[in-house]
Amino acid sequence: MNWLLIVLGLILVNSCVGEEPKCDGPVIACYYASWSYYRTEVGHYNISHIDPNLCTHLIYTFSGLNVDGKIDSLDPNYDVTKGGYQYFNSLKQINPCLKTLLAIGGWNDGSRKYSVMASSEDSRKVFIESALRYIVTYNFDGLDIDWEYPANRGGIAEDKENFSLLVKEMKERFSKWNLLLTIAAPISQYILEKAYDIAAINKYIDYVFLMAYDYTPTDSNVTGLIAPLDEIKKTVEFWLSKQFDKKKLVLGMPSYARTFVLDNEDDHDLGALTEGPGLAGPYTKEAGFLSYYELQINLASQLYEENVTDNGAYGYYSTEWMSYDTLDHYIAKTKYALDMNLGGVMLWSIDTDDFTGFFGPKNIILTTLYNTTQDYVNRHIN
Ligand SMILES: *[C@@H]1O[C@H](CO)[C@@H](O)[C@H](O)[C@H]1NC(C)=O
Ligand SMILES: *[C@@H]1O[C@H](CO)[C@@H](O)[C@H](O)[C@H]1NC(C)=O
Ligand SMILES: *[C@@H]1O[C@H](CO)[C@@H](O)[C@H](O)[C@H]1NC(C)=O
Ligand SMILES: *[C@@H]1O[C@H](CO)[C@@H](O)[C@H](O)[C@H]1NC(C)=O
Ligand SMILES: *[C@@H]1O[C@H](CO)[C@@H](O)[C@H](O)[C@H]1NC(C)=O
Repeated sequence: MNWLLIVLGLILVNSCVGEEPKCDGPVIACYYASWSYYRTEVGHYNISHIDPNLCTHLIYTFSGLNVDGKIDSLDPNYDVTKGGYQYFNSLKQINPCLKTLLAIGGWNDGSRKYSVMASSEDSRKVFIESALRYIVTYNFDGLDIDWEYPANRGGIAEDKENFSLLVKEMKERFSKWNLLLTIAAPISQYILEKAYDIAAINKYIDYVFLMAYDYTPTDSNVTGLIAPLDEIKKTVEFWLSKQFDKKKLVLGMPSYARTFVLDNEDDHDLGALTEGPGLAGPYTKEAGFLSYYELQINLASQLYEENVTDNGAYGYYSTEWMSYDTLDHYIAKTKYALDMNLGGVMLWSIDTDDFTGFFGPKNIILTTLYNTTQDYVNRHIN
């Protein structure tokens, strides 16, 4: 009788252990731009569009730094009153392996006020305590710092050292709560050298989400590819040459095109002169930028000539010019990240993927990253 109970008990324990989710594969980090809520018609995106099973980390953008040097919502009506944070974090019930992060900063929140916040132990403490309280209150699993960038854009040279202190003090405080600390980092070696003591921050940061896109920025005078793999490899090598832990480096990819107006419609190769950013898309409404689904609309019009190179694709029609990745490029980049033993991949952003499935399966870019990762993991287990 006792024997039977013990055996039954063991079977029960084993089957429970067997059901424990394994959450240790490569990272698939998904940035979510909360303002996509305000896009209209087929561009409208909300939290119910997120497939929480395709991501390991979901990142809500953006919160900001307020006049008191504390973290704060930039859109309290959406984030709090309408329940944005709450709904977002409830997705963890669907995927128990999912970790959620709140991002603070971004390009539009600037650099100067972050520089001031990081410049003394007292102001860092005020920020860290406010962030801890905020993250715990809204049930996120950590903070993603998108200060763009220390010692740049109005910051001061001391930001570099102070940033190391900020992440050190923050991680020490966060560890007690088992919270993650990550950053989004740029590609320019010039900015990187000024902004971060990479070897020093390595210890305190769980992941660096490498913004490996906009290699040709919107204000470029000549056309160029958005995220060429040959350049990306150099950026990754740079991080690794600074003794940054591979497993903490996560390779970002864009789900959008950069666009330009050509100076002369007959001169449409790489390196052609531009007159400025391309026309805004009908849904995302930002000059020089088209979501993946908007660029597919252009390609589907059959007006565009397309040139697919190893490092990315470009298309042009009259004086309109756009550069983007095809699914093969996403696959190649994912394989590269995994071959290099990096932490995984990241997508900016899931709301500019073809989330309605207008041009094929829903969330085709994210699904491509997910499937490529799964195939890779399965191949390396067997
Ligand atoms: C989310 O988007 C869907 C599809 O457009 C829409 O039916 C739904 O009402 C939206 N939800 C919210 C909360 O806006
Ligand atoms: C941080 O930066 C400020 C300059 O604004 C400097 O005075 C301070 O000593 C730096 N370091 C520390 C440890 O806070
Ligand atoms: C683009 O051209 C403008 C005007 O000729 C010049 O001031 C600027 O430096 C150029 N930008 C780049 C990135 O070369
Ligand atoms: C496509 O782009 C490559 C790289 O710039 C170039 O060498 C090639 O001539 C282009 N092909 C066409 C058909 O324009
Ligand atoms: C991803 O894999 C699933 C399952 O094998 C498959 O049904 C789906 O078509 C794949 N999608 C893409 C975009 O690769």
